[in-house]
Amino acid sequence: MNDKELVAHEALKYVKNNSIIGLGTGSTANLFIQALAQKIKKESLDIKVVASSTVSQIKAIESRLNYISLDQIDTIDLYVDGADEVTHNLEVLKGRGYDLLREKLLARASKQFIVIGDQSKIVTKIGEKFPIPIEISPIAWKITQNLIGKIAVNCILRPNTAGDAFAITSDGNYVLDCQFNYTNLKDLSDVIAKTPGVIEYGIFQNIANIALIAENNRVSTITLEA
Ligand code: 5RP
Repeated sequence: MNDKELVAHEALKYVKNNSIIGLGTGSTANLFIQALAQKIKKESLDIKVVASSTVSQIKAIESRLNYISLDQIDTIDLYVDGADEVTHNLEVLKGRGYDLLREKLLARASKQFIVIGDQSKIVTKIGEKFPIPIEISPIAWKITQNLIGKIAVNCILRPNTAGDAFAITSDGNYVLDCQFNYTNLKDLSDVIAKTPGVIEYGIFQNIANIALIAENNRVSTITLEA
């Protein structure tokens, strides 16, 4: 079992019967979806799932999970998702998979939000390895880009995978990928959040409960209390 598989299986320990589980997006989250499907089948569990993207929705349905749409629920018991960066203070950066609005909704609605990843995700400062993604409304995207651009070092509209058009989120929005020179993450988040046209952004501060991080086949746990 590699490190990503290991954390995906470790997260199964938090799964309880008769619960609603939020499914994440990305290669590590996919491994959790697979492992969850096996556990549900083996133990005949009654579990409903919601998805953080159309991609994880399709994975859930393909895995024969009991998928329900987000407009049917008001809370989630457990949300398990990957991340792009995690600090030892449990600050998390997400968004390579585009759907920040859905990911933030699931994270905030969950009684427990567990981030899973390998050691490559650990950083000392959010934004160290990746630009900060910001999901924005397409209606006046140049205005939003310009406003964010005033406080950013660099802020580009994310292209699609083929590079011939813009990336579009599951909810029809665009994504800016921005680099900032900042001193206080909360202050930066507040400025981004207040910019007209911003729908959501990839900084998850004081939201995750636990990060399960694997390195060389061993899992360590980061909690807010640690
Ligand atoms: C999607 C995300 C992913 O969880 C993040 O990109 C990690 O992906 P992977 O597990 O493939 O490294 O935030 O928006």
